[in-house]
Amino acid sequence: MTHTTDNQTNATERNPVTDAPKKKLIEVSLPLEAINVASGREKSIRHGHPSTMHLWWSRKPLATARAVLFAQLVDDPSSNPDKFPTLEAQEKERRRLHGFIEELILWENSTDTEIMAVAREEILKSNGGRLPKFLDPFAGGGSIPLEAQRLGLEAHASDLNPVAVILEKALIEFPPRFSGRRPVNPNATRRMGEWSRAEGLAEDIRQYGMWVRDEAFARIGHMYPRVVAPGGTSHTVIAWKWARTVRSPNPANPIETPITSSWWLSKARGRGAFIVPRVVDGRVSYEVVQGNGGPSKEDDGTRVGRGARSIADGTPISSDYIKAEGAAGRMGSHLLAIVAEGERGRVYISPNDDQRAAANVAVPVDIPDEELPFDPRNVWTPSYGLTKFSDLFTNRQLVALTTFGQLVEEVRARVYDDAVASGMEPGAPLEEGGAGAHAYADAVAAYLALGVSRCTDYNSSLTSWNSSRDGLRNTFVRQAIPMTWDYAEANPFSDSSGNLLGQIEWVAKAVEQLPASAPGQAIQASAAARDYDGVAISTDPPYYDYINYSDLSDYFYVWLRRSLKQILPKTVGTMLTPKTEELVANPYRHDGKQGAEQFFVDGFNAVFDRIRRSADRAIPMTIYYAYKQQDGGKGTGSSSTTGWYTLLGGLIDAGWEITATWPMRSERGGRLLSLGANALASSIVLACRPRPAEALATTRRAFVAALKAELPSALRHLMQGEIAPVDLAQAAIGPGISVFSRYARVREADGSDMSVRDALLLINSTLDEVIGEQESDFDPDTRFAVKWYRQYGWGQENSGIADQLARSSDTSVGALERGGIFEAKGGKA
Ligand SMILES: C[S@@+](CC[C@H](N)C(=O)[O-])C[C@H]1O[C@@H](n2cnc3c(N)ncnc32)[C@H](O)[C@@H]1O
Repeated sequence: MTHTTDNQTNATERNPVTDAPKKKLIEVSLPLEAINVASGREKSIRHGHPSTMHLWWSRKPLATARAVLFAQLVDDPSSNPDKFPTLEAQEKERRRLHGFIEELILWENSTDTEIMAVAREEILKSNGGRLPKFLDPFAGGGSIPLEAQRLGLEAHASDLNPVAVILEKALIEFPPRFSGRRPVNPNATRRMGEWSRAEGLAEDIRQYGMWVRDEAFARIGHMYPRVVAPGGTSHTVIAWKWARTVRSPNPANPIETPITSSWWLSKARGRGAFIVPRVVDGRVSYEVVQGNGGPSKEDDGTRVGRGARSIADGTPISSDYIKAEGAAGRMGSHLLAIVAEGERGRVYISPNDDQRAAANVAVPVDIPDEELPFDPRNVWTPSYGLTKFSDLFTNRQLVALTTFGQLVEEVRARVYDDAVASGMEPGAPLEEGGAGAHAYADAVAAYLALGVSRCTDYNSSLTSWNSSRDGLRNTFVRQAIPMTWDYAEANPFSDSSGNLLGQIEWVAKAVEQLPASAPGQAIQASAAARDYDGVAISTDPPYYDYINYSDLSDYFYVWLRRSLKQILPKTVGTMLTPKTEELVANPYRHDGKQGAEQFFVDGFNAVFDRIRRSADRAIPMTIYYAYKQQDGGKGTGSSSTTGWYTLLGGLIDAGWEITATWPMRSERGGRLLSLGANALASSIVLACRPRPAEALATTRRAFVAALKAELPSALRHLMQGEIAPVDLAQAAIGPGISVFSRYARVREADGSDMSVRDALLLINSTLDEVIGEQESDFDPDTRFAVKWYRQYGWGQENSGIADQLARSSDTSVGALERGGIFEAKGGKA
């Protein structure tokens, strides 16, 4: 491989003694274990976490984003030999910085202004007294730019997807404009002290949210009648449980059959409930029975595999038949049961005609009748005739969601009047950069639109009743639009899951905790076309075909567009979210698998080539790479052409030197390592620098010599970061690949250019030697983890192999399991 090099001169920020670009902390060592632990813990924090503002797929934890940003902005002490002349002084300073990072990344410290001020000071100190301007060009749900803003940087975010852009604006762009303001609603909570950050805005979101809810109830509350229990008590409905139906293909008994996988409503001990269907005169009626003596697994429901069986006589109903009936518009629905609010928990009540009649409403105007995307792997409903977004909602849901959308628009006039009455100047609209009454009214409405959008996740005919948890399961349980046969239609006016006020409360809580400090801006742009002048970059690009963001987000967009077309007209200008430029390896869009891969790789490399040409050269760029197990799963021996090698090769070809690779265990909480799990295993953060124009070519022999010279001290520094043994081997690749990518090319003995894969093999074998020499410095667990990773990556192997390797490392599989770094089950480890 011939590496591209750069014509520009190098950064101004240089080591005063060596004149090399100053190394940043992320290029030397990190308190990795603390970062991984804090990121894992963050998963269980619900209230006020920005991710609760709205769903976005594959969000990065704040702790990881904050630590990575800080460490890419702050100098490694070795860069300042004038201040830290000895190795000891440098190590001491590194330890101090690690200690500070451990504090900085805790969720509890997110709004601690003193800690953030210290962080800002450190960044200023390392950057000649300036705070760099920051950009994430694949910002998604916005965690990375949010953390940049929290650290005091001017934060810029962009994404191709307008739903993501709305979320980013809601996190970093709007709140600073209204920071420190009191709420304008006359009913707002009174407070003696200050309203910090965007707390006033959050309070107004709640207050006007209540107005929207009350006004909606006045208009459409009659569609949600209370239900009377057999004892005569009346209850607010939480959800109606429906089943889709098709006519049985048995010509002798063509009964309309419900398709349901379970008759159970609740399996709670002592409070169980289930549905008993009865067939009388060719029709099915349903009765709810209290108790735990419901059907066993074998007798439960009517669903069989992908098909079903007739409720009357067991006639098999094939999946193809169901599809054909659905496509012909002959799929119906039956009300099976009603879940309602009781004095002590849920009550389950049999359906009746009044409740059926209440659901029987006409389709409103201006519903989202855009077509669903063609993606049979992730979007299943079209094969059953549900081909438009509006087909995914009941008529009652369509009425409710359109009413909420209209009210979001209507509420603006109220907020505006109250804002003016509270003394705000009218000013420009929100999307034009305004910060007065006009913009404030737009902002409150935009956050309410997000609350309504959250509601669409809980108010579709793809949500279901979870009988084990006694609660509603939202639409996007997975990154897909699957088919749901027995769905639960939520009551948006109840006090339980899926209700409108609850959704708005999630938004308000998230807004309350935002930093709302340094200026922020989010724009819609393709990463391949936007500018990168002088910005520091940390970004988490899409990962191959893992998530089809645009297809999935259209589900939200079609509704958001309707409620935001007056409020953010530029952001919601298109009918659907843009698809052609989206960096995703989607075989349906790019002529099959190969075309999709080519499109992704070319697009990815073009973006990073563009960034290299103009981004801030004093600060390394950081990139998150979602590491799937199959990517080089077996150390470096995998034949995988996509993934890790492609990413490294692409970046190196595009003129980047890779200066660090850090395994981040941020995608999963809980156990440190559970080998063989098929989910997205982990991600790797890479630090990269533009390779200088004067970079030289070298030979294999000189490359190996450089590795041997540099790896021992790099490893020692890594060890300072308290890295879990299992992460050390991956982290140790960083310094090696840094040596490789520093050269314009590395020539093999036969004159050809060395590939990334061969370079990794050499790096690994050199690391083996170095580790062998340093072996006495490692504990047995570390020695094991390093050896295992080298041979099997994150893959699964026979546990006998693990046993052997463990013995040779002076430990045992049992001890490793107890240490939480390893799992061995059923002969597999
Ligand atoms: C992995 S996600 C980012 C997630 C984000 N870090 C977070 O924490 O929420 C990748 C993002 O890239 C966006 N994207 C895909 N193709 C793009 C393109 N060509 N230009 C800009 N953004 C794009 C997707 O819409 C998605 O939001």
